Amino acid sequence: MSITVGRLKLAQPLLNGSGTWDAEQAHRIFGDANPGLAGFVTKTITPEPRAGNPAPRIAPSRQGLLNSIGLPGPGREAFLATVLPYLRTIVAGPIICSVGGFSLADYVDTVAALEGDPACAAIELNVSCPNVESGCASIGGDAGETERLTHAARQVTTKPLFVKLSASVADIATIAKAAEAGGADALVCVNTVKATAVDRRTGKSWFGGGGGGLSGAAIKPVALHAVVACREVTTLDIIGLGGVESADDVRDLLAAGACAVALGTALFRNPALAYTISADLAP
Ligand SMILES: Cc1cc2nc3c(=O)[nH]c(=O)nc-3n(C[C@H](O)[C@H](O)[C@H](O)COP(=O)(O)O)c2cc1C
Repeated sequence: MSITVGRLKLAQPLLNGSGTWDAEQAHRIFGDANPGLAGFVTKTITPEPRAGNPAPRIAPSRQGLLNSIGLPGPGREAFLATVLPYLRTIVAGPIICSVGGFSLADYVDTVAALEGDPACAAIELNVSCPNVESGCASIGGDAGETERLTHAARQVTTKPLFVKLSASVADIATIAKAAEAGGADALVCVNTVKATAVDRRTGKSWFGGGGGGLSGAAIKPVALHAVVACREVTTLDIIGLGGVESADDVRDLLAAGACAVALGTALFRNPALAYTISADLAP
């Protein structure tokens, strides 16, 4: 079942979604056994260390999960110096580094820093962040910003370059074409869907950081739509994710045009899920 996605070779078509799989804890539970995942997608790396949003950051939702985590992380320098070398010792398969930021330079500097590190097999641009310099609320919501960012990243890396799209955009096909024009090798469809929970007393967002994103089973049809829409307009490989909970969900995303599939929220409930699904998928 080995496949190639955007020039990256994978032993089988299952990955994790960025920010939904704790490789260290998985190593503690499963040891060196790879629990059904072909590689590991890191939590999004930002240039500076970030504490993330104030609590509350997670809320349940029917058939899904709401989060407003706010990209906590150690920052680029610590990631390169300690996190990535450690991941390389515990993760089987290629490591795909998810990159985020708040300006073009934020992304480009991180991508350039990863270029020289053989532990990073591929780069995923999380374009669901704002560009504070241009005043753009979400880079992935704007075709011009997406193409500019992808092109700038392409100039500083030879590694496979994936662009992770947001479903909360007016026309995802336009953004997919922009990523392709910028030089992406593959698309990842999709990030969480904009959503929130409300504090009934105030009418304001219940989350400490405001905003929020919906993931889990509720968004599988959104992910399917995104894969179909992108498949129609680009020849890029697509990693489908959103609400996958079973082998049939994987088959649906593959049938829609994805060549690999990632598991996200469902892994919180069942860390062995990828193992079960890959066994179900085996011919
Ligand atoms: C708690 C949590 C943290 C996440 N962190 C990130 C992140 O750092 N970067 C990113 O690109 N996506 C992040 N995501 C989005 C997931 O990778 C995935 O795109 C989304 O949850 C949809 O898949 P799912 O429905 O299977 O969870 C996060 C999702 C959750 C639930």
